[in-house]
Amino acid sequence: MKRAFITGITGQDGSYLAELLLSKGYQVHGLVRRASTLNRSRIDHLHQNPDLHLHYGDLTDGVSLVNLIHAIEPHEVYNLGAQSHVKVSFEMPEYTASTDAVGTLRLLEAIRASGLDCRFYQASTSEMFGATPPPQAEDTAFYPRSPYGAAKLYSHWVTVNYREAYDLFAVSGILFNHESPRRGESFVTRKITLGVASIKLGITDTLTLGNLDAVRDWGYAPEYVEGMWRMLQHDEPGDYVLATGIGTTVREFCEAAFAHAGLDWQDHVRLDAKYERPTEVDALIGDATKAREVIGWEATTDAKGLAQIMVDADLEQLGRLVENKRGERQIP
Ligand code: NAP
Ligand code: GDD
Repeated sequence: MKRAFITGITGQDGSYLAELLLSKGYQVHGLVRRASTLNRSRIDHLHQNPDLHLHYGDLTDGVSLVNLIHAIEPHEVYNLGAQSHVKVSFEMPEYTASTDAVGTLRLLEAIRASGLDCRFYQASTSEMFGATPPPQAEDTAFYPRSPYGAAKLYSHWVTVNYREAYDLFAVSGILFNHESPRRGESFVTRKITLGVASIKLGITDTLTLGNLDAVRDWGYAPEYVEGMWRMLQHDEPGDYVLATGIGTTVREFCEAAFAHAGLDWQDHVRLDAKYERPTEVDALIGDATKAREVIGWEATTDAKGLAQIMVDADLEQLGRLVENKRGERQIP
């Protein structure tokens, strides 16, 4: 039985990846952070699975990583754990660097010191391209525009270096934005689809956003975790862009999401500069030709389809909450 170790298992991608690996017969080990309340809602449905094992640890705590690699002896490690919010990285640059940059080094060192024959996936990002205009592919110049992008660039290069220096099977997946109903509520797509559902259900009337002109290449997260797994199954380690190849502005995503619920976004969206960043990444549109040709991966959901999936899910989830509240009120 193959053993996989996932950092960031409680996040959007980690939860989909855990599902995928369990369905393929892996024993899955996940790193979870201790918090005062349990923060596992995305993996609650997997809780009873006997092949899922959760371990306390943190990417800022090297000893925990060394001990876990030693105890689990994984065949594959997926490093998805990160402070993943770009705007927050301007407010917490040092913590972001410790987790997103040095955290990767700590994990790579734990693997190297173990002497295990273990494959490593690093969650790199299109944010590393930053100011370099699209289309962006594996050989496009990097120019990060945030402490998050800079930290991830360190991790990208240290992953490449450990591959070259120590012959580690280490791959870097340069993933463009990917979303889902499990997306964190403060990322723009989910903020919009939750806003649409709240407006539709009469809970609120406005949605406040920042820069509507930014262009992103938005795909569907479950498809992207399949790409991560494929990268680790290939004969040779390498770096791959995963993207749809289609650019959409925040404004266009808004329009599609509101329209799907029968609403006009212009009646509800307000702007506030507090949601803008000190330096913005204007446009990300990826070229995933290498992934298609080498590992047979291709995105199949576009931004409009994604907006529909996410609005439907938020309408259902929020609708259920509203119904439950009404039910509670009827109880004497
Ligand atoms: P996410 O939903 O924000 O999940 C991040 C995960 O990292 C959570 O499980 C979080 O744990 C964990 N984490 C945060 N700080 C940690 C620390 N110090 N030690 C250990 N774990 C820590 O992110 P995502 O969207 O799934 O993205 C997964 C990875 O891909 C991230 O590295 C992200 O930077 C990268 N990425 C994402 C995208 C995208 O569009 N989604 C694109 C390119 C790259 P808690 O639940 O306890 O907070
Ligand atoms: N979050 C947020 N909130 N973004 C807004 C808002 C708002 O109210 N209004 C406009 N935006 C704009 C941002 O300025 C940015 O240009 C764009 O919407 C997307 O923002 P996010 O959804 O926060 O994602 P991101 O592109 O900055 O970062 C995500 O994708 C990266 C890959 O390119 C994250 O998932 C990163 O972890 C990931 O690496």
